[in-house]
Amino acid sequence: MIKVFGVKKLLMLSLLSISIQTFSQNDLYKEWYRPRFHFSPSKNWCNDPNGLVYNKGTYHLFYQHNPFGNVWGHMTWAHAISKDLVHWTHQPIAIPEENGVMIFSGTCIVDKNNTGGFATQRGQIPLIAIYTGHTEGVNQSQHLAYSLDDGTTWTKYKNNPILDLHKKDFRDPKVFWYEPKQYWVMCLMFPVEHYVQFYSSKNLIDWKHLSDFGPVGDTSGVWECPDLTRVPVEGGKGEKKWLLQMSMNGSMQYFVGEFDGVKFVNENPTNKIYRPDYGPDYYAAICYNQLPNSVKPTAIGWLNNWYYANDIPTKPWKGTMSLPRTLSVKKVNGEWILIQQPLELLSKQRKLIFKDFKVGFVNQWKLPIPSQQQYELDFDIAINKGEKGGVKIAAGHGHEVEIGYDAEKKVLYLDRSKTANQSFSKSFAERNYFETSYIPTGPVKFRVFVDHSIVEVFADGGKRVFTAQFYPDENDTGIEIFSTCKRSTGSLACYLYELEPAW
Ligand code: FRU
Repeated sequence: MIKVFGVKKLLMLSLLSISIQTFSQNDLYKEWYRPRFHFSPSKNWCNDPNGLVYNKGTYHLFYQHNPFGNVWGHMTWAHAISKDLVHWTHQPIAIPEENGVMIFSGTCIVDKNNTGGFATQRGQIPLIAIYTGHTEGVNQSQHLAYSLDDGTTWTKYKNNPILDLHKKDFRDPKVFWYEPKQYWVMCLMFPVEHYVQFYSSKNLIDWKHLSDFGPVGDTSGVWECPDLTRVPVEGGKGEKKWLLQMSMNGSMQYFVGEFDGVKFVNENPTNKIYRPDYGPDYYAAICYNQLPNSVKPTAIGWLNNWYYANDIPTKPWKGTMSLPRTLSVKKVNGEWILIQQPLELLSKQRKLIFKDFKVGFVNQWKLPIPSQQQYELDFDIAINKGEKGGVKIAAGHGHEVEIGYDAEKKVLYLDRSKTANQSFSKSFAERNYFETSYIPTGPVKFRVFVDHSIVEVFADGGKRVFTAQFYPDENDTGIEIFSTCKRSTGSLACYLYELEPAW
């Protein structure tokens, strides 16, 4: 965490009854920088997604929120619901800060068998939230709240905390049901010491320590938001592996292996760092709990970076969630590689506005400009040895974001150094070029999602992803496919779709 948890004076509790719903949505979601097919709060600050859970046909998204301002503070769980993970309806604040205890990140589960005993009537199914109660500079411990009306209203458990090691840094519980052992498992972070702890419980209240994982991989910053999920092996006959993701220092890393209900064993080499995203703006991603079998494991992350999160030039809100990403893994050259795909449903909400196939493509090629800066561009491009090619988005007046493949350096890259508005933060301006090594076996494939001030790039079939914010001028709307190749390069296939606004 690259921020100071400065606690301002506590505001009157009654103010918490201000729901984010009281701001008319008609006036909002029209701002130039506002993403239109990604989730963002109508007003005020948001960071991590919390408590992602599916219940009775509804996807819940809770998130870290400051109900009183457009910077980090007064952390509270805000709430939105959706039937399709694209269209969201804001709900009243779920769990507010109270008595100096902020509501930090955590998890949500549907307690179908009432293992916690919170149901008050026969047949009632409680939703349980387990989160970190944060007392500034003093303590982080694990707390519980429950809802008996499918997540609309919440009550804090009277004997909180449920797990307290009297530590200043001990946070971000992820809880899930481990069927073979018939108990709940909780993953928790020891951020400073760089390890994940695993606990088990039969009743969600009493927790027993099982094992630890770490330090390993990227330990350059405090570890936050562990997420352990079972994901399918691509091309495997129903085989599954355990995926452990976590966040640190403006980035994320993952491990793939086995979990036997007690211990996680990483099966990837430990001398290499594996990233779900090579861009600067994908953080604190967690997966949905209790999805129906027909829905693939799905993660959502926060599209921001603590180095400049409080300074981004958006108002009256700050913070956007990623596209929901479906997850699987595949063994490539002896290593387990995470494969991420944007939510399939988006393909049903797009309109093809342009397609072309050029053989012997060279140099610069301007595409028609979609009427809105909400689009998906899919293209395959062959790049000659030692050359470079890709796409420039938000192009105009010397501004652009360049995404491409550099065959000399053998890297996929994203370069936002030429975007119009960077002066709001030195840290943002300094973080402008990102790359990852890649040796393609044919044309390089890109799926690029652009949503006003957000770009998410899925390359190499979802094995390499880049996510970045950029802040263009209103005239920076162009799209240009380019290549430095001086002679015929083979081929280029290109599809441009406009995406419907969800707001
Ligand atoms: C991650 C994080 C978590 C913490 C929350 C506080 O972005 O720092 O570790 O629970 O944000 O808002």
